[in-house]
Amino acid sequence: CGIVGYVSLGQVADGKKFDHSAYDVVLEGLRRQEYRGYDSAGVAVIGDEGIEFRKKSGKLVNLEAEVAANPMTESTIGIGHTRWATHGGPTDNNAHPHVVDNDRLAVVHNGIIENFAELRAELLEEGVTFLSQTDTEIAANLIASIYNKLESKDLTEAIRLASNRLEGAFTILAIHTDHPDRVVATRRNSPLVIGLGENENFLGSDVSGFIDYTKKAVEMGQDQIVTITGTDYSIIDFEGFPAHGKEFTIEWDTAAVEKGGFDSFMEKEIHEQPAAVRDTLLGRLDEKGNLTLDELKIDDSVLRSINKIIVVACGTAAYAGHVARYAIEHWCRIPTEVELAHEFRYRDPIVDEKTLVVALSQSGETMDTLMAVRHAQEQGAKVVSICNTNGSTLPREADAALYTHAGPEIAVASTKAFLSQIAAAYLLGLYLAQLRGNMYKDEVRGILQELQQMPEKIQAVIDGEQQVKDLGTSMKDAKSVLFLGRHVGFPVALEGALKLKEIAYLHAEGFAAGELKHGPIALVEEGQPIFVIVPSPNGRDSLHAKVVSTIQEVRARGAVTIVIAEEGDTAVEEHADHIIRIPASPSLLQPLLATVPLQIFSCAVAHAKGYDVDQPRNLAKSVTVE
Ligand code: G6P
Repeated sequence: CGIVGYVSLGQVADGKKFDHSAYDVVLEGLRRQEYRGYDSAGVAVIGDEGIEFRKKSGKLVNLEAEVAANPMTESTIGIGHTRWATHGGPTDNNAHPHVVDNDRLAVVHNGIIENFAELRAELLEEGVTFLSQTDTEIAANLIASIYNKLESKDLTEAIRLASNRLEGAFTILAIHTDHPDRVVATRRNSPLVIGLGENENFLGSDVSGFIDYTKKAVEMGQDQIVTITGTDYSIIDFEGFPAHGKEFTIEWDTAAVEKGGFDSFMEKEIHEQPAAVRDTLLGRLDEKGNLTLDELKIDDSVLRSINKIIVVACGTAAYAGHVARYAIEHWCRIPTEVELAHEFRYRDPIVDEKTLVVALSQSGETMDTLMAVRHAQEQGAKVVSICNTNGSTLPREADAALYTHAGPEIAVASTKAFLSQIAAAYLLGLYLAQLRGNMYKDEVRGILQELQQMPEKIQAVIDGEQQVKDLGTSMKDAKSVLFLGRHVGFPVALEGALKLKEIAYLHAEGFAAGELKHGPIALVEEGQPIFVIVPSPNGRDSLHAKVVSTIQEVRARGAVTIVIAEEGDTAVEEHADHIIRIPASPSLLQPLLATVPLQIFSCAVAHAKGYDVDQPRNLAKSVTVE
């Protein structure tokens, strides 16, 4: 879910009461955060007559239509929500805000309240009636009940007391008609950032919730409550003690969150990949030519003593982790595992002080990844997070953060974050190899030079996009598409299949090419489209020859082969129904190139089928529940 809060001082100039109207600010924030969930949306403001709210199931446009038909009063204070449904289906009624206590208190919530049944029973006994099936309505009524019993009528205190009763993960924003000058928010394990303006302040699930209005933001910790007014903010912890946030400047600009002439954010983000990789690699060499990672604030002696690396991540980030494993193991000679974050702690993993956990996450808020990291830290492991979002939870909790500089990624299906995660993981691998003496400075520099050339090569792949788009359009009626790769081509195959599932709702599977003969080849029949990612013919061993044999095997059984191969690789020509060329590169770096046509292909198929590429059904970009 995405949440927004806003409050201004009002009376900004002579005769002019509103600089910004709360509804406009909240709506804009929701629009920017819609990628966090789009099952329903709602907004509440405090007008002259008390709380006014509108909420609608479906995407934000439905809410906008509702408000157009039924306009809201101009106000200085408001909260809003865009929902990815957990408790209760995506109906109007279950949409947030939840307004309770004779329309005096409005609440929006992101997360899951686990002890809702117990609290519901208590509140029913007090005579509360419920209108929805959501856990949020229970939280709202709990706050109202506590507030009404408080002599001080202090909203922040009521929310503090309520927070101590709630179990699970939550960010809750509340406004009350008794206090039309403030928004109070509480957070445990769900994201929340504060935005600081002039005579106006903001709250958002991430900075995109207020990026149009200010570049000044404050990061806050877990189990904290913030109260914002038009001029001020103050943070306390759940015990009631004052706490301090960390101010930072938002580097993303507003243009970065616009489509900039593209039909979709996804296409724009595919095109931004050369810059995303370039910016992630930027400024990593010191004057002596050594690779430096200033952010990596883990003692060198600790990094030298590491005897195991575990990469944890979900979704696309996990596939970046698979690529990272090949590179890190090869360069550093440290045993490296990759694990889906939600599986990690339940297998009782062997983790100790000599384990380095690398958590990959675009958003820095994926709850599964966060929980894996906490589990690892409890066992004494050190954690490096590779993350794209400043002010988010993972880099804050990790022992060190290595930021990718992909800029905001809006499309739900990840593209440029994936490539920049891979680039950052390469840097980490090279750094460890340099530090531990597995590689000489010159070798590291050699690979870095190759890496520096990748943005240009990625651009060359993008320049050839028309061929891939045409292919995508022509295959829009395919029932299933398979993807094969070996070595680093294997995670690329998995990512290619995931993209197609996510945005084109098409059955797709990625396989390790060598595994094909052990089962999946039974799937191959006449006309089955199969992508094959071919390793460099100049790479080690006989990998290239083996993959060429695989192409022959599937083609002999009727497959339509779409071969992704390096320029100059003539050996594949006679076996390919379609060839997509990518520039030559060292084997380990090839995923930065081979992934790109697969992204373009999925996008083209989804377009041809008339789907919303940026907001695929049932998904949310940032999954902040377990
Ligand atoms: C969700 C998104 C995926 C993303 C995954 C991990 O499932 O739909 O696109 O890869 O989360 O997200 P993260 O922010 O941790 O990289």
